[in-house]
Amino acid sequence: MQIIALTSSKGGVGKSTLAVNLAGALSLRGPCVLVDEDHAIQTSRNWITGSQIPVQLAPLGEYPAGTRSVVIDTEGRPAITDMVQLSRACDTLLIPTAPNGNEMKATVDLYESLRAKGADMDRVRVVVTRSTPTGRVGEAARDHLRSLNVTVCTTIVRAYAAFQRAEEQQVLVQDVRDERAPNAWADVCALALEVS
Ligand SMILES: Nc1ncnc2c1ncn2[C@@H]1O[C@H](COP(=O)(O)OP(=O)(O)OP(=O)(O)O)[C@@H](O)[C@H]1O
Ligand SMILES: [Mg+2]
Repeated sequence: MQIIALTSSKGGVGKSTLAVNLAGALSLRGPCVLVDEDHAIQTSRNWITGSQIPVQLAPLGEYPAGTRSVVIDTEGRPAITDMVQLSRACDTLLIPTAPNGNEMKATVDLYESLRAKGADMDRVRVVVTRSTPTGRVGEAARDHLRSLNVTVCTTIVRAYAAFQRAEEQQVLVQDVRDERAPNAWADVCALALEVS
């Protein structure tokens, strides 16, 4: 069983959007469970509840027999000690960041704090998300972060309105009727492949 957790020091970076869609992509390879640890907002729980998305919700640590992957969505700005613990309890701790100065700085600060507090850095990876679909802004951000010795996924998740529609319609982004939805889904699948 493989466990992927999403966290960040800022809110609204795209954790829940990635959590639900990544879980959907991972479910193609076997039963996938999503844990919504954001008890206040519950974006991913609400997205999945009553939907046709083939992902089961479960409490932390209570996974049905046969579960192949687990995706854990967390609240924005959890305590650093909780993140350190999470890094030891999962296979991959993903930190989404947009390719802008503010979010990248917050991400580098978080990465350094995790290292200083003894997180398992072999498991921590940043993923550039909400990147402009054209141009090389995402790639430049990824390469800059790598130059700072931050481990960054090669996959860049681009910004598409289809992701927002997917949440509104309680579907995976692949099921949104939008000509760019296949691009959005391709990014999610590439990320799923990279982290599993
Ligand atoms: N790749 C993307 N392209 C376009 N919009 C996106 C993308 N990822 C996230 N968004 C949008 O950004 C907003 C915040 O995303 P999301 O709720 O996933 O972030 P979050 O990190 O889970 O936030 P919170 O900290 O509040 O839990 C939402 O409106 C979502 O639709
Ligand atoms: Mg969220």
